[in-house]
Amino acid sequence: MYLQSLYIENFRNYSQQKVEFNAPKTILMGNNAQGKSNLLEAVELLATLNSHRKVRDRDLIQSGASIAHICGKLERAISTDSLKLTLRRQGHRTVNLNGENLRRQMDFLGVLNAVQFSSVDLDLVRGSPDVRRC
Ligand SMILES: Nc1ncnc2c1ncn2[C@@H]1O[C@H](COP(=O)(O)OP(=O)(O)OP(=O)(O)O)[C@@H](O)[C@H]1O
Ligand SMILES: [Mg+2]
Repeated sequence: MYLQSLYIENFRNYSQQKVEFNAPKTILMGNNAQGKSNLLEAVELLATLNSHRKVRDRDLIQSGASIAHICGKLERAISTDSLKLTLRRQGHRTVNLNGENLRRQMDFLGVLNAVQFSSVDLDLVRGSPDVRRC
């Protein structure tokens, strides 16, 4: 399974952005505050419905907008999946899988599998043995 494309609308500093992940590996490069972490945050939200930044949905929506969308297309061995998360400044978020709104957000989890590793996890390799082995 891999994330083939991402489309975000009114999310953080992005009005409308489509990204295709065609290569086996992708490196995001850009100036400070250009939106690299925001893009990764969008993927994190699709995978876990959470942001490591611990923010409210209204903080994720572009200033001045009332609704934001994060859409992803997953390529699998024998099928594709379309994921869509809608965030609202007022009202609940909704999740959609392959065109169908899901009543239980739990059913959205585990469709996109992602592993996040960042500088806050460096203790896993540089920490004391008791930290590394717990
Ligand atoms: N809700 C929002 N509406 C509009 N812009 C936002 C919103 N939330 C964050 N931003 C903007 O997103 C930008 C920061 O993006 P991000 O953190 O992804 O940058 P970055 O490329 O990772 O930068 P760095 O290299 O410093 O880590 C800032 O300009 C900030 O103002
Ligand atoms: Mg960043």
